[in-house]
Amino acid sequence: MMKSVRVAIFASGTGSNAEALIKKMQSLGGSIEFVLSDKPTAGVLAKAHALDTKTYVIEKFQDRAHHEQEVLKLLVQHRIDWVLLAGYMRLLSADFLQSLADRHNGHPQVVNIHPSLLPAYPGKDSLERAFADKVEQSGVTLHLVDEGMDTGAVLKQVAQSLKGFNAFNDFKASIHRLEHQIYTEFLEQIVTGQIATQFFKETIEC
Ligand code: GAR
Repeated sequence: MMKSVRVAIFASGTGSNAEALIKKMQSLGGSIEFVLSDKPTAGVLAKAHALDTKTYVIEKFQDRAHHEQEVLKLLVQHRIDWVLLAGYMRLLSADFLQSLADRHNGHPQVVNIHPSLLPAYPGKDSLERAFADKVEQSGVTLHLVDEGMDTGAVLKQVAQSLKGFNAFNDFKASIHRLEHQIYTEFLEQIVTGQIATQFFKETIEC
């Protein structure tokens, strides 16, 4: 039998991507190990609870290294293979990513979804900025995470024309639908082994 993949989601916001991922995992007969947020009031926490998914909150500390140490402890405790960022509005340090790579045969296995065709519109409010600029085409990028702001290697990009979207909210909803589709397809690929997983291996005490 195929070994099951252990996935955690990190999110700071309303959690529509997290919700889609949790539901997809459940439809595949598994469960997301936990959802972590840095915001105690984030909507994602209620969405996860409603879907019987464990949640943790680790708020921002003064000391970034200390914060990341606490996050790492959780990932080690749950032997997490993949971390899926779904609107997690914090950068991860090179040291943190290396700590994960050390446990996954050299691969951190952290992925992010972003609502633009990177490298266009990285960071916050990407949709708002693209819409205000009246760009003809926007889209979604799924990428590996490095220590930069939305700079890691691209796994998949899908374009979305802005033509026909007069209202920002319609455009936003359409991009979100695209995100959910791309992210849940990716999740299915890792769960079914179409994308290979480097399984968690503890090498050092954290
Ligand atoms: C999503 O659009 C995601 O792509 C974006 O935050 C939103 C979260 O929505 N992430 C970034 O901008 C990362 N730089 P959600 O909470 O409804 O999933």
